[in-house]
Amino acid sequence: MSATIMANSPARYFEDLDRVLFDQQTIRERIAEMGAAISSDYLGREVVIITVLQGGILFMADLIREIDLPMQIDSISVASYHGGTESSGKVTFQQKQIPDVEGKEVIVLDDILDSGRTLAAIVEKLKKEGMPNSIRTAVLLSKQIERAVPIEADYYGFEIGEEFVVGYGLDYAGRYRNLPVVGVLKKEKIGSTP
Ligand code: IMP
Ligand code: MG
Repeated sequence: MSATIMANSPARYFEDLDRVLFDQQTIRERIAEMGAAISSDYLGREVVIITVLQGGILFMADLIREIDLPMQIDSISVASYHGGTESSGKVTFQQKQIPDVEGKEVIVLDDILDSGRTLAAIVEKLKKEGMPNSIRTAVLLSKQIERAVPIEADYYGFEIGEEFVVGYGLDYAGRYRNLPVVGVLKKEKIGSTP
């Protein structure tokens, strides 16, 4: 294999992990349970699943295939992290128009709930400007920290500690999203170019 291919492959990225928290099989099984819970909670209704870009795309792709309901999908683009491991504390909406949610049963997905600012800002904006019939949230990971704003996800996959994680959609400086597992990045990788 050429050096270029090696440098860009997920296998190369694995070496940057201190440890794997959730492997592919574990994630798949938990998402199947979440999909089953959503399918039963919304039985007989149609839902709109809105994922937060970019981090929520893998979670959305896997979760929607475990939901047995009529649905539409959409996305919303926000930024709260600006390259590092610390949130800027400010949520910026990067789209002029929000998804059409009027009168709909909305479930907003994100990769992780950390300070809570991102999900809270999205829920507030969709409620205020979109007039959905209902709105709930689902995240793959819920960090067990004190939130900056009072919000908990209606559905979550796993609870984790305060560590900075990557993979399965989660990035560090835009990288590692394609890792099929969730893992803790080696300390020495933070601050260096992956
Ligand atoms: P919150 O607004 O602080 O809840 O942060 C949510 C956003 O921050 C998520 O959508 C992630 O993009 C990002 N984030 C929070 N914690 C981590 C982490 O441990 N690794 C990678 N991204 C994270
Ligand atoms: Mg994100």
